[in-house]
Amino acid sequence: MALVDLTGTEDMAAALRELQDHWGPVAPVDLEPGVPGWLVLGHAEVMEVMRTESVFARNPRHWKEQLPRESSLHAILSPAGRRALYYADGPDHRRLRLPVDEAFAGIDEARTAALVRGVCSRLIDSFSAQGQADLIGGYAAAVSFLAVSGMFGFDDKQGIALLRCASEVFGHGGDPVAALATMDQIVLDHVLATREAPGQDLTASFVAHPNFQDDTEIVHSMVVAICAANEMLVTWIAATLRRMLTDPRYTGRVTGVRRGLDDAMDETLWREPPVANLPARYAVTDCTLGSAHIRAGDAIVMGLAAANNDPRVRPADDLFEAGNRSHLSFGVGPHACPARRPGRLVVKIAVESLMERLDLRLSDPDVTWAPSPWSRYPAVLPVTFTPERQVARTPARA
Ligand code: HEM
Repeated sequence: MALVDLTGTEDMAAALRELQDHWGPVAPVDLEPGVPGWLVLGHAEVMEVMRTESVFARNPRHWKEQLPRESSLHAILSPAGRRALYYADGPDHRRLRLPVDEAFAGIDEARTAALVRGVCSRLIDSFSAQGQADLIGGYAAAVSFLAVSGMFGFDDKQGIALLRCASEVFGHGGDPVAALATMDQIVLDHVLATREAPGQDLTASFVAHPNFQDDTEIVHSMVVAICAANEMLVTWIAATLRRMLTDPRYTGRVTGVRRGLDDAMDETLWREPPVANLPARYAVTDCTLGSAHIRAGDAIVMGLAAANNDPRVRPADDLFEAGNRSHLSFGVGPHACPARRPGRLVVKIAVESLMERLDLRLSDPDVTWAPSPWSRYPAVLPVTFTPERQVARTPARA
């Protein structure tokens, strides 16, 4: 089975159970048609892969596959010449990871929250008088990108230019190679400007860090962080909004038992992790995982959606998820997400800002999933609401 068919299927949980019943905790799959790999479905086995980098490495030089030039997997799996934490192992990874950890630890959360609220409010202003909107293209995608690029000190114009490039890099049309080069240039210009006049943002923290050997490492690390954040945030915002708009436990305002946004966010992380299939690790030696015989050079994808719902760890209890953060949706081990807190902050403010201002109703309950081997989110989320009256922006005359 190809991963994109799995994420695009109507009942993904049932498809995962079928795979697990047939193969056990590790199943052979196609990463794209004709490109073989393994999908790890068991919770214990996913933890083993993510924690054992001496056997399951992140660096794609261990991968034996030669992808055709036009393959959509290049940007994520085979990024030749990129020098960032995401593609590194061992001491090299730790050297590149420290500046990222320190930058996120130094974030001013009140200032970040104000920035994200401003982004959300400007976006809602842009469609609130229309009475209808697509919350993916018109909101979730833009909030994610503008919030994260804002945290790095880019203005909205640069943020939008980066967003266009990132979409091409991830294979949604255009020329991915040219788009990545443009993205690098925008980021490099910003790094140079920040060195001249540092602000209070993540870029300033990166630029000042002694662990980077040169500007290429800074640029590649920033591009990875911006891109990694984007897909995850869009998916988490989209799935949480859908849950809040369709699940009677969240929509039942009059029953007095309505559950809150934090619960919806946690439940989403457990049941629909933003990255359903996490790419990838490469086997350094022949080994056995579950009952699968893995060969050196094989690619291994971590099935976070499957692992979070592995019946061996998960009780059938409806209240199990609320406040329980022991899912694998942020990863574990050396590459675990360094930005859990800001990630949660962006998603919470994005959903809250919309729901506080507009009485949203989903206008089409049928879902078409955006095609991706890695994540599963609706291609569109059409809603209607009572249009807001346009507020006159010109000051009244005295
Ligand atoms: C402000 C938003 C975010 C930023 C800037 C960010 C950044 C990053 C970066 C730089 C890494 C690479 C770490 C490394 O290789 O050492 C990473 C890893 C990861 N992130 Fe995030 N992230 C964000 C939000 C999220 C969200 C919302 C999720 C999902 C709930 C998520 C899930 C993950 C996972 C699963 C990994 C592990 C990758 C692996 O083990 O291969 N991230 N993130």
